[in-house]
Amino acid sequence: MVLRLGLIGHPIQHSFSPWIHQHFLKQIAVKGSYRLKNIAPDCFNEQTVSSAKAELQDGFNVTVPYKRAIMPYLDQLDERAARVGAVNTVVHQNGKWIGYNTDGIGYIKGLQEAYPAQTRDMSIRILVIGAGGAARAIYDALIVQQYEYIDIANRTLEAAEQLATELASSGITTRVMSLEAAEKELSRYDLIIQTTTMGMKPGPEHSVIALERMKQAAIASDIVYQPIHTAFLKEAGERGGNIHYGHHMLLYQAQYAFKLWTGHWVKLGSLPDRMKRQLER
Ligand code: ATR
Repeated sequence: MVLRLGLIGHPIQHSFSPWIHQHFLKQIAVKGSYRLKNIAPDCFNEQTVSSAKAELQDGFNVTVPYKRAIMPYLDQLDERAARVGAVNTVVHQNGKWIGYNTDGIGYIKGLQEAYPAQTRDMSIRILVIGAGGAARAIYDALIVQQYEYIDIANRTLEAAEQLATELASSGITTRVMSLEAAEKELSRYDLIIQTTTMGMKPGPEHSVIALERMKQAAIASDIVYQPIHTAFLKEAGERGGNIHYGHHMLLYQAQYAFKLWTGHWVKLGSLPDRMKRQLER
């Protein structure tokens, strides 16, 4: 068996995904490739997607800015991907191209493995900052896990309201608030999840909110991993918070994607530490 896998997105030349999936392929002793297909936004169409499918014939990952745009080109969507409205993993199975979303479930698995004691309690107070695609996947996965209190803060209130209206389910308490209100009420939260693009290279190194009122033992989790030590995490660390770095989400979503493609549940082993060291260089 020779697997043909890869990633479509733009820009993707610095992606860690080939490095991750080559490790996984080696672990299960299967030959294969994981290629990068960089598609410029003005070239994303039926033809370029067909050519990606022809080359990456067993399946592929999808990243920014195509997680939504890929959907019309697929034969089927799994329930979670349909609900979240975004696809990050495509599997070619029995002649059909099926879209999945492993971002949210991967994020939660990484967090729970890093902080098992603190995340076991479903009644912890959670604040999700941001209301974009990543926030959607994470909020949905938190609900599936049955966490009970999940508030959302965003610069644009309407986006947060829409997210909550579309995805909240019974038994979940969600309040929507501005970033300013979240700063004032920060001491309420046991887990603060930063999902916005603030602090990401090459943008300025700013934290999306001030953490003065953060509870000391709270977990501060950022999904930005370039830079790995974001302003948000640095400030949280200085205030005695528990830090959860952004590269975990990439590694764990890849673990789930690889399972969908191959049926193998691979171990991450030393990859989180090794990736962190590379990002620190
Ligand atoms: P992704 O798919 O990576 O989540 P996205 O869908 O573009 O990206 O969402 C970006 C998120 O970052 C949004 O929550 C956005 O806030 P708005 O809904 O108000 O646009 C947030 N964001 C981006 N730049 C920001 C900034 N300078 N300050 C505050 N929030 C910002």
